[in-house]
Amino acid sequence: MRVLVTGGAGFIGSNLVDRLLAEGHEVAVVDDLSSGDRENLAEAAGHAGFALHEMSVTDPELAGVVERFRPEVICHLAAQISVRRSVAEPVHDARVNVEGTVNLLEAARRAGTRKVVFASSVAVYGRPKVLPVPDGADTDPRSPYAAAKLSGEMYLATFSALYGLEYTTLVLSNVYGPRQSPEGEAGVVAIFTDALLSGKPTVVYGDGTQTRDYIYVDDVVDGFVRACGDRGNGRRFNLGTGVQTTDRELHSLVAAAAGAPDEPGYAPPRLGDLPAMAVDPAPAYEGLGWQPRTELAVGLKATVEWARRRRGETGGTSGAA
Ligand SMILES: NC(=O)c1ccc[n+]([C@@H]2O[C@H](COP(=O)([O-])OP(=O)(O)OC[C@H]3O[C@@H](n4cnc5c(N)ncnc54)[C@H](O)[C@@H]3O)[C@@H](O)[C@H]2O)c1
Repeated sequence: MRVLVTGGAGFIGSNLVDRLLAEGHEVAVVDDLSSGDRENLAEAAGHAGFALHEMSVTDPELAGVVERFRPEVICHLAAQISVRRSVAEPVHDARVNVEGTVNLLEAARRAGTRKVVFASSVAVYGRPKVLPVPDGADTDPRSPYAAAKLSGEMYLATFSALYGLEYTTLVLSNVYGPRQSPEGEAGVVAIFTDALLSGKPTVVYGDGTQTRDYIYVDDVVDGFVRACGDRGNGRRFNLGTGVQTTDRELHSLVAAAAGAPDEPGYAPPRLGDLPAMAVDPAPAYEGLGWQPRTELAVGLKATVEWARRRRGETGGTSGAA
């Protein structure tokens, strides 16, 4: 089938593109390369059934691109992904994450797209009362980023009611794996990996007991691929493991995978950081036939190996294999 992946030059999107191409699908990417990297699509670029459109999802020309490609399914991952930037620049965040989503949905329904699969975030749950968070839990957006993601979810339901455009929302917990950038604020696995392989100091904020639910990128990609079929229409699913890992535990695991000393420094907790997060993925077992398969230690090993190879290829410094 023909699949359009927005944000396909990014961390999760490019892993999804490779998987779709490997399964024989025709794939077009729309990405403005603002946080993504053309390098992530180096393998994809060799496929006959692949095209990259370097443009913003807010561009009025998007409708023409979608009309010509006529995707059966659109996986919508393009986004302004920084919570902090959304607080500092809420209008910019809304332009990309709300207006861009509406622009895409309008293009999709005009082009006769069957389904949109949307990347939402656990940020929509705010400070959850129950852990792991069930996917029907109340939403409580506490940042412009979360409000925009929730708004995207609502527009999907609206376009479905108006035009019969099918959709599935996937609420992603903390995704990690190859191609995640250490530049962002949320990619703590990438940040620890990069620092530990470079012999640089690492920092844990607070006392190290803050928890997150880490899910390996291949498992997330598998959720998207399953949702591209006819399962899970009109529903939202949490893609996480339900397991809480503390920052301190994570540091030990990454240090073990990197063969580096497990000696983080400590800094005061950051304002607004959540003390704990994990989501209940169980409904996706039945709804999508999906479940997380990658043990954290196994996924971290693969991530560190990828980072080593990449540093070797790009002339990385000491500690690189
Ligand atoms: N990584 C996580 O842990 C996580 C957790 C929850 C939700 N998500 C969501 O998953 C999606 C993918 O995130 P990621 O971690 O791969 O981040 P990423 O930054 O690697 O990917 C986002 C991609 O979108 C592109 N993009 C940004 N603005 C654009 C625009 N206006 N037009 C076209 N392309 C644009 C970027 O260039 C980038 O390639 C995002 O929607 C994000 O909100 C990610």
